[in-house]
Amino acid sequence: LGLVQVKRDLAGLKLVVSAGPTREYLDPVRFISNPSSGKMGYAVAIEAQARGAEVVLVSGPVNLPDPPGVQVVKVESAVQMYGAVLEAARDAQMVVMTAAVADYRAAEPKSEKEAKTAGEVSIQLVPNPDILAALGREKGQRVLIGFAMETHAGVERAAGKAQRKNADFILLNYPTQEGTAFGGDDNQVTLVRPDGQHEAWPRLSKREVAARLLDEALKVYMRHSV
Ligand code: CTP
Ligand code: CA
Repeated sequence: LGLVQVKRDLAGLKLVVSAGPTREYLDPVRFISNPSSGKMGYAVAIEAQARGAEVVLVSGPVNLPDPPGVQVVKVESAVQMYGAVLEAARDAQMVVMTAAVADYRAAEPKSEKEAKTAGEVSIQLVPNPDILAALGREKGQRVLIGFAMETHAGVERAAGKAQRKNADFILLNYPTQEGTAFGGDDNQVTLVRPDGQHEAWPRLSKREVAARLLDEALKVYMRHSV
């Protein structure tokens, strides 16, 4: 009576999920970032917690409430996210990287705001560490999942990333679909494996995408642990 049946199929597992953008400060008041809303990662955290997992959500700056029952670690920069994800992942069985990690940061961020000058300026950028690739180098039994947004050659590029980063699969999407991807409540993704095998999922709510992602992650985990 009034009870809903909830699958607890992730009980006993620890999952780390990253979400949102990172901010790479040029000076105390200016940064490089991207429009990631964090909704996809928060949906994964909420769904995994509901299914019994211990969840650590490493989040860049977003406008979303902390999900109840989830350990939330707030970060700003890619370097901070790298530290927080690697630390939380040590005893985790699954890591899902939904975060839109900035690829570069300022080589020498200014400690003071400087006035603009009339002419052109250039900023020296250096590459950020790749969190998923770092996890992939010491993979063990852990399930590693990435996301990729591509404008072209999506399957090929996503498979290449899964291979290079040693991820089990990548969920690929395109920035052009109305109501999906950045900021939307729905998502239309294609699951891409390192060998190029892929399957397109229908347009679903981000919560439903999270549910399917976790079904697939659990299958991979079972296969690894036999
Ligand atoms: N990723 C990461 N650390 C980074 C960059 C990306 O962990 N410094 C993760 C993302 O969270 C995502 C996956 O890698 O799960 C793919 O991200 P993407 O930006 O598509 O890959 P890149 O290798 O940065 O390739 P690109 O040059 O296309 O941006
Ligand atoms: Ca990138």
